[in-house]
Amino acid sequence: MNICVLGGTGFVGTELVTRLALAGHWVRVPTRNLARALRLRVLDTVELCVANVQDLTALGRLFAGCDAVINLVGILNARRGASFQAVHTELPAKVLAAARAAAVARILHMSALGADPHAPSHYLRSKGAAEALLRAPPPHPGSPHPGVTIFRPSVIFGARDSLTNRLAGLLRRTAGLLPLARAGARFAPVYVGDVCAAFLAALARPASVGATYELCGPQVMTLAGIVRLTAHVAGLRCRIVPLPNAVGWLQGLVMGLLPGKPFSLDNFRSLAIDCVCREDGFARLGIRPQGMLAVLPTYLGGNDPEGQLDALRRAEELERSADA
Ligand SMILES: NC(=O)c1ccc[n+]([C@@H]2O[C@H](COP(=O)([O-])OP(=O)(O)OC[C@H]3O[C@@H](n4cnc5c(N)ncnc54)[C@H](OP(=O)(O)O)[C@@H]3O)[C@@H](O)[C@H]2O)c1
Repeated sequence: MNICVLGGTGFVGTELVTRLALAGHWVRVPTRNLARALRLRVLDTVELCVANVQDLTALGRLFAGCDAVINLVGILNARRGASFQAVHTELPAKVLAAARAAAVARILHMSALGADPHAPSHYLRSKGAAEALLRAPPPHPGSPHPGVTIFRPSVIFGARDSLTNRLAGLLRRTAGLLPLARAGARFAPVYVGDVCAAFLAALARPASVGATYELCGPQVMTLAGIVRLTAHVAGLRCRIVPLPNAVGWLQGLVMGLLPGKPFSLDNFRSLAIDCVCREDGFARLGIRPQGMLAVLPTYLGGNDPEGQLDALRRAEELERSADA
């Protein structure tokens, strides 16, 4: 297939574009900055280009000759010139319009668990609004309309994630002491490789047109549990100080003012609802997702084989104690 992947340079995108190319697809990846796409340059069937994906004419050019469009573009925090509304809702509307005009057969859209027009955070509300507009029937019955498939993953982990790597970095800097807002929020962390496998499986299945897949890893864990597991596998000290909600709110307010917004009020509000699945999208696609213990030792042990072996031993130790 000829596939255009928006957001193809990010954490999920780099993994997905690589897998699509290795599976024999030809992939076009627009970016705002080619330097972000270094890892994709080595792939023969990947065409990288600089483009403004918010421009409808540019989208038309990008989608020309494509069988499918995958939209992974997303932000955790709004910035000047990139509101949640513009990035999560208006862009998918433009993608749909441009795909319709270019007679693209399929759109695969990345949403998030909890996306809902009435959710507590801007992040989830803007994603929910996009789902609603993508599910709406074509304005003119019988006119060409791409088949839409939507994915709603829980939090995603993998070698280049900003979850476990950031937590490990924080624990290193604070000698293991971590004040944590919403420590009891529940997730089912899902491996990036399994998320990409779901996209590839859906592409190969015409029956996935019109479907929504919730994607969760095999274990439900609290945020504090994810921190503890990350610390244990990475061999780091860990003492979590759960923050009462009022203090967590204040933490979001203050950290949202720092450069790079390491945590924000909107992030705090997203954590108000559990990020766990109501149905098993992986099972419907014939995929058995991997748990954190199987994957974390492959990258949290550092680059040397000794460190990786230690991480593996610690993960096995934890698995045995959980079994017992
Ligand atoms: N990671 C998770 O745990 C998780 C969980 C649930 C859902 N998701 C969703 O999965 C998708 C991918 O997440 P990710 O972790 O791979 O994100 P990421 O690493 O931050 O990558 C984001 C991608 O979106 C593009 N992008 C960001 N802001 C943009 C803007 N204003 N205009 C145009 N392009 C923009 C970036 O492209 P360039 O910088 O190259 O232009 C980049 O390729 C997102 O929609 C996210 O909401 C992620």
